[in-house]
Amino acid sequence: MTALTRDDFLALDAADELAPFREQFVLPDDVIYMDGNSLGVLPRTAAARVQDVVTREWGQDLIKSWNSADWINLPQRVGALIAGLIGTDAANVVAADSTSINLYKLAAAALRMQAPRRKIITELGNFPTDLYVLQGLAEYLDVELVAVPRDQILDVVDEDTALVSLTHVHYKTGVMFDMPSVTKAVQAKGALMLWDLCHSAGALPVRLEDCNADMAIGCGYKYLNGGPGAPAFLYVAARHQAAVQPPLSGWMGHARPFDFTDVYTPAAGITRNLCGTPGVIAMSILEESLKIFAKVDLSLLRKKSQHMGQQFMQLIEQECATYGFTIVSPWDNDMRGSQVSLGHDEGYAIMQALIARGLIGDFRAPEVLRFGLTPLYLRYQDLWDAVAILRDVMESGVWNQEDYKRRSAVT
Ligand SMILES: Cc1ncc(COP(=O)(O)O)c(C=O)c1O
Repeated sequence: MTALTRDDFLALDAADELAPFREQFVLPDDVIYMDGNSLGVLPRTAAARVQDVVTREWGQDLIKSWNSADWINLPQRVGALIAGLIGTDAANVVAADSTSINLYKLAAAALRMQAPRRKIITELGNFPTDLYVLQGLAEYLDVELVAVPRDQILDVVDEDTALVSLTHVHYKTGVMFDMPSVTKAVQAKGALMLWDLCHSAGALPVRLEDCNADMAIGCGYKYLNGGPGAPAFLYVAARHQAAVQPPLSGWMGHARPFDFTDVYTPAAGITRNLCGTPGVIAMSILEESLKIFAKVDLSLLRKKSQHMGQQFMQLIEQECATYGFTIVSPWDNDMRGSQVSLGHDEGYAIMQALIARGLIGDFRAPEVLRFGLTPLYLRYQDLWDAVAILRDVMESGVWNQEDYKRRSAVT
């Protein structure tokens, strides 16, 4: 194989149909941002939107804005924009709460729908909040949670299984489940299938309807660029919506919240999954970002992301072969999400040294350096420059300093 050069990467940028989207985001100088899978960057129009929401809609129009600015329908409006990214209709998605809370709500509803089945199955090593929420729920409802390695999941689904809850793209390794075949196998045993799309929505085309998925959840602050702590979303297949009995039966999920009746009557459709008042400012930012996605061809996005992954891994092998890294993410494009993860025993210190040099990724204990590929604003030349920084940090040994070994609260 001929060696890759920086000119190859510049040529790829010049031919990149998605390149103009970079202008829609704020990117600080002297930073290569490969952490959009943890916290996406700021959409260029977001600050003006916040300014307008705060000064005019709130400051001047005050409570009238619930109607005049349609604040009340933000969860459905934002949900409709997300629906297009995950392969379903507007009527099946709402933006609300956090991913953790949405998981609790849907998993609890699924257990109720599936009684007397009393088992939940998930992956050992799933994202911790998924495990913790399901552990808490299982204890609370006195049902059984079974967490097994990914290759054993389908073997343990049985006639007592109410729900299988999996993360589509693994947060640490980037390995993907085959959503259609897993969903089909789970449903063949009479269980419901819930997908966590935190590392999928906005990163690759998701086809929930084509896969016949039952439920899904996901977050707004990673690939969707909704800002720190952005609202999350949830999906329930149309065929199940009337059967969902919300465990958090708040007034925003009521059929007629402004009748102020004493008795809870769930709204028809997906709206019953709302609980309390939406965070208007945060939802407005997420809506702003999603307007950009409405113009994106997701198949092009996926193609660029897969190509970037290949190029990045190839460059690491070319430039950093002697520094003890293992490539943790799969080489197979169809099995990898939109990230590349490297393993290294000194991963934490190395990542801190990279961040000090302007290459921002993140570290996932115990040994993974994680690099997010966000094709709307990451350039091929950034991949070249990122690997040059990595090689330099390793070659000089600059990572090996006490400062870089001291752990911060957030890694
Ligand atoms: C797969 C997955 N699920 C859930 C979460 C986080 O959930 P929350 O937004 O409730 O903190 C993350 C965050 O990184 C994640 O990677």
